[in-house]
Amino acid sequence: MNILGIDTSCDDTSAAIVADGKKLLSNVVNTQIEVHHPYGGVVPELASREHIRNIVPVVAEALSRAKRGFKDLDGIAVTVGPGLIGSLLVGLYYGKALAYVHQTPLVAINHLEGHILSIFLEEDTPSFPFVALTVSGGHTSLYHVSGFGRYEPLGQTLDDAAGEAFDKVAKILGLGYPGGVAIEKLACSGSRDKIDFPRATLSRDSLDFSFSGLKTAVALYVEKWREVEGVHHDVEMADIAASFQEAVIDILVLKVMRAVDKTGAESIVVAGGVACNRGLRDRLTTCAAERGLAVYYPRPQFCTDNGAMIAVAGYHRILHGERADLDTDVRSRFPIADLPLLAP
Ligand code: KG4
Ligand code: ZN
Repeated sequence: MNILGIDTSCDDTSAAIVADGKKLLSNVVNTQIEVHHPYGGVVPELASREHIRNIVPVVAEALSRAKRGFKDLDGIAVTVGPGLIGSLLVGLYYGKALAYVHQTPLVAINHLEGHILSIFLEEDTPSFPFVALTVSGGHTSLYHVSGFGRYEPLGQTLDDAAGEAFDKVAKILGLGYPGGVAIEKLACSGSRDKIDFPRATLSRDSLDFSFSGLKTAVALYVEKWREVEGVHHDVEMADIAASFQEAVIDILVLKVMRAVDKTGAESIVVAGGVACNRGLRDRLTTCAAERGLAVYYPRPQFCTDNGAMIAVAGYHRILHGERADLDTDVRSRFPIADLPLLAP
């Protein structure tokens, strides 16, 4: 069963062909980093214009690399939310047009479900149940996953997402957008114990996150640091990046372990752009191993936004008979709890 997955939720135009919910035939991602870089963040209007320019060639390229034509498709899966409205509309309306013209089943996908299921594109896959941490530019959430389409939300960020904090701190430090990769690179040459930035653990058993206090603390620190720069050479920009990254990792690892304690799950899946972070991967793997837990990470190209993860989610929903009609609309907010539960 060949599924075309389309994702235009934010600033990447992506299309992929996946067979039987696991075998990758192609995955094409057109990033808009150069468009948004000068602004230090995604400019929604520019993002939708770029999607309009890119969607047709990106889908054509995905089919061509997979050596498939429209007639070979058994389903079209499109992200309908959460995300930027103008961006989502481009992918959904192109998907609708293709489904109508080629008489192919269409299915509407929640972007977060895509991130959670991206691990099933890998050889080594977890068994259910597992705890999933989705950490991206727009989301930081924990779920207890008991099957395909069976997600129990455990906690989420009360303010900024972890990736958003990376992007904002990168902007404060003048590193440009997207910030995660730049901070990680700079942090490699810094000392992670140099500055004790605050870690919001919230109440004792809370599985929610909060990163806005940390971001503000870094902003205030950098303001003072810039005033005395040149006088005190003992703190470098790399130390600020490393200390900030360490605080984020501390919080993420603490909450994942709390989620494991609460649910009794024996496996952990980490997905979303921030899951590319080497520091996070190393620390979580070490902590999990000490407790006999296994951690699964999709390869970086499946951590950041991609159409392949949408095709995986689409495969399982189409198998369960789910279809989207031509009235389907996009949803800027789309909690995973709103998804119809799939039978085990
Ligand atoms: O999943 P994604 O591509 O898009 C969203 O759904 O938001 O995630 C993008 C986010 C950005 O905030 C980016 O700074 C962050 O993931 N990111 C990283 C790394 N690579 C990407 N954060 C930390 N370390 C990285 N290596
Ligand atoms: Zn994403």
